[in-house]
Amino acid sequence: MHIKNKVIPMIEAKQKEESLTGVEKMEEEEEIIENSDDQNISSLPGVGAATVEKLEAAGMADMMSIAVASPGQLAELVGMTESTSRKVIQAARLRLNMGFESGDEVLKKRSKVKKITTGNAGFDALVGGGFETGAITEIFSEFGGGKTQMGHILAVNVQKLAGEKEPVAVYIDTENTFRPERLMQLAEGAGIDPKKALKNVKVGRAYNSDHQMLLAEKIGDLIRDQKLNVKLVIVDSLTAHFRAEFIGRGTLAERQQKLNKHMHTLLKLADKHNLCVYVTNQVMSKPDQFFGDPTVAIGGHIVGHASTFRIYMRKGKKGSRVAKLVDSPSLAEGECAFMITQGGLQDI
Ligand code: GTP
Ligand code: MG
Repeated sequence: MHIKNKVIPMIEAKQKEESLTGVEKMEEEEEIIENSDDQNISSLPGVGAATVEKLEAAGMADMMSIAVASPGQLAELVGMTESTSRKVIQAARLRLNMGFESGDEVLKKRSKVKKITTGNAGFDALVGGGFETGAITEIFSEFGGGKTQMGHILAVNVQKLAGEKEPVAVYIDTENTFRPERLMQLAEGAGIDPKKALKNVKVGRAYNSDHQMLLAEKIGDLIRDQKLNVKLVIVDSLTAHFRAEFIGRGTLAERQQKLNKHMHTLLKLADKHNLCVYVTNQVMSKPDQFFGDPTVAIGGHIVGHASTFRIYMRKGKKGSRVAKLVDSPSLAEGECAFMITQGGLQDI
């Protein structure tokens, strides 16, 4: 039915085309686009049955996925020209009423943000009450800093999110450091049924950077097809595979390009499904830095810009850890110190 409704106006539009002036043509196009609030993608101008099939195969068969795609990406995926795909994207955006939002609308969206507790009052205070949904939080540290431990802690504590039915954590494990035993231990420490915590974490072991990117792209399917209430996505480590696979200066641009794409997949997930993304990142030493901490996060600006919150964690005295908020849209920079213990994070 959709196809019939769509094809006829398009043929009519084509027949009219020759007799219209430029302005009329534009008005006509806008009319075709704006006339509908149909949320079915097959109702978009230029999206036929074959295109729908390709979009479905790519897991992009919903309005939002198209609206946030890039013209190049969409063109490549379904084999249309970039100018057509630009029009399709624009139409999808109009249907979703995307573009500018007024301050009160943003505020309304912000009111849906939930916070996953770290189980430690000091750490929670540092990040404004917990790790936010709708955003990416990055922790970078040297080895043994506690990044993986934090991933396990969040995967447990997502169960405590208020008003969520069976919240699920997705753990993309790139270094084979996910430990169900440790998760159960932390669940006990947090007063959560260990079996429930274990059941509600879905682990994907990523064998290389392409696999890692693919796993991230599949999360949309878990939400849509398996109807899982995914509220947390962990990528531990975000950068290790990329760092290992792209060695040498000549490969840097390609690495950053892929990393950029990966970060955008994660950003889209966070935004579209109001879920929390937590990524871990190693540091490298920066020998030319004489003042301050001579370490910088891997991944450079791309990771830095896409992350809403950035936390630098280092080892402190007597086995403690110190977390420092280095980048946040609204919170003051600050520090907190804690110990990693059997049951979770504890004050010193
Ligand atoms: P890399 O992935 O190597 O960069 O390190 P990371 O930042 O992920 O460090 P990770 O989270 O693996 O932290 C490891 C540290 O956590 C250990 O050195 C311990 O100090 C602490 N830790 C891990 N498991 C336990 C545990 O069961 N009990 C206690 N008390 N501490 C633990
Ligand atoms: Mg780790």
